[in-house]
Amino acid sequence: MPYDPTSLSNLDEVKTNHIHLDLAVSFEKKTLSGSAELEIEAIADNVTKVVLDTSFIAIHSVTVAGEALKHTLEKRHEKYGSALTIELAQAVSKGDKVNILIGYATTEECTACQWLEPSQTVGKKHPYLFTQCQAIHARSMVPCQDSPSVKLTYSANINAPLRAVMSAVPTGEEKQANGTTTFKFHQKTRMPSYLIALAVGNLEGREIGPRSTVWTEPEVIEAAAWEFVDTETFIRTGEELLTPYDWGRYDLLVLPASFPYGGMENPCLTFVTPSLLAGDRSLVDVVAHEIAHSWMGNLVTTENWEHFWLNEGFTVFVERKILGRMQGLQRAEFSAIIGHKAMVESVELYGESHPFTALRPCLRGEDPDDAFSSIPYEKGFNLLYYLEKHLGGAAVFEPYLKAHVQEFAGRSINTDDWKAFLYSFMEKTFGQEKVDLLNKVDWEAWLAGTGMPPVDNKFDDTLARACSCLSKKWDQSRHEAHPTEFTPKDLEEFSSTQTTVFLERVSEIDALPHTHLDLMDSLYKLTPVQNAEIRFRWQMVCLKADYEKIYPQVAEFASTMGRMKFCRPLLRSLYHAKNGAELARETFLKHKSFYHPIAAGMIAKDLGLAK
Ligand code: BES
Ligand code: ZN
Repeated sequence: MPYDPTSLSNLDEVKTNHIHLDLAVSFEKKTLSGSAELEIEAIADNVTKVVLDTSFIAIHSVTVAGEALKHTLEKRHEKYGSALTIELAQAVSKGDKVNILIGYATTEECTACQWLEPSQTVGKKHPYLFTQCQAIHARSMVPCQDSPSVKLTYSANINAPLRAVMSAVPTGEEKQANGTTTFKFHQKTRMPSYLIALAVGNLEGREIGPRSTVWTEPEVIEAAAWEFVDTETFIRTGEELLTPYDWGRYDLLVLPASFPYGGMENPCLTFVTPSLLAGDRSLVDVVAHEIAHSWMGNLVTTENWEHFWLNEGFTVFVERKILGRMQGLQRAEFSAIIGHKAMVESVELYGESHPFTALRPCLRGEDPDDAFSSIPYEKGFNLLYYLEKHLGGAAVFEPYLKAHVQEFAGRSINTDDWKAFLYSFMEKTFGQEKVDLLNKVDWEAWLAGTGMPPVDNKFDDTLARACSCLSKKWDQSRHEAHPTEFTPKDLEEFSSTQTTVFLERVSEIDALPHTHLDLMDSLYKLTPVQNAEIRFRWQMVCLKADYEKIYPQVAEFASTMGRMKFCRPLLRSLYHAKNGAELARETFLKHKSFYHPIAAGMIAKDLGLAK
């Protein structure tokens, strides 16, 4: 029986097999309107109603075969939205199917959609729409069983004045008399509702591989095609490790700067932030990550958001396997070190006994967006990394990884399912010796314990060492009035990732005197750097020192970069920095419409402007 504390649907009585969307995109009204037809199947006997998740949706009609059905939009749950209760004309039994057609429109309060004015795009001429449904925002765009325990296929006809792309394979387009076009899509692989995705804008496509096109505004197409040339090699490496790629196409969509995440694994069409366009391919790990989701998350899906680590921990693990095969072990371990630091920061932010620092938190009554952090990613990765070493290395663990995908593809699972299969695979393939090893694992501490993981994995620190050394030198120089041991050459041999890690190390030591920050900036020319990771880390170093000279730069970056990984910590730190609180709030409020609704909601909470 699927369990999902963050869905209001009667998941124990019905499941959805397919959704067909017929929607018109209106940039004037900022709405999607039309219909969703859900093929619903009873999974119990004597089912008299279907309860769907909705959030800020206007329901116009509910019919089955042309007959109207009685329905009620229940009072809104603050976090989970309004249940739509539909009474069936007659009770149905296990295996029976009904096609429910719902006429509806999204509203201004839709949290999945961001409607951008032309001025908010790169080209400045055309409006733009994009959606972000993970974790529980699909319900604000489509009435559905918005739970990852439900997997469905979908098709869509999207009528729009500009090109539409979706997390599905395009199957045709028809020009309409009024100048709009209807774009058709089909997703044949069963997937959870949070992977429904749509973008509409002035989009151009450029082929970058045998199954990949990169889509973006024409102004950045060149840069995007250059940055992501390694896409096919990532996919092929994933296939070597796991199973053949199941989704047909793997396209990329480079979004406007307000996209709230680094990447989103929408099937057939990964969404990515334009902040990956560093011009040196140094940030494409994110693409390897989203490709890894093609198996971990999209084929094998968490049953509910309490087991989110099964999506993200596994994906990070595979991402680093791909990276290791393509760029060598040191590079992969360097990424693990960076991830470890992100986990430490998350644990510090929540506090080490906070329930959300557990690998498998309880989300009853909670908003999954509030529980989002690096912890499921990195604690999950560290558990798998530890298990691999503990059980005998890649020769034992890589066959297991593949078997995990073969066993669970097409299904939604929880941590108990995962663990049971791990045990049974190890016993069947390698015998009792591995079971004995598994029995030595402190499962309780790993899965339920809060704070840092119970085992401190050691990673190869070849690439990180130089970063720490340089940071230490700065630390030791803090009492010198005019340090002379530093030169612009210090960073010459560094990759841009090493520069980022150097700044990360500097942000861990006590704040440096402003004279030292002046010197660091004049030698290393950090303030003008455009690479978003470096720029972010440098600004964080400055904010920690209440270095007011940087404040205008922070306000500029945080109001033009909607990726939450950057804008949230920057605004939060500015808010807590000396004389920064007012500027932080002012910056956010002035640019509120720049942010995606999800980001705007989170920042408002961070700055004490909402609860
Ligand atoms: N699926 C996530 C993004 C996400 C998670 C959106 C939860 C909404 C709710 C995506 O795959 C992701 O993890 N993105 C990271 C990439 C990084 C770990 C390489 C990001 O956005 O930074
Ligand atoms: Zn991910």
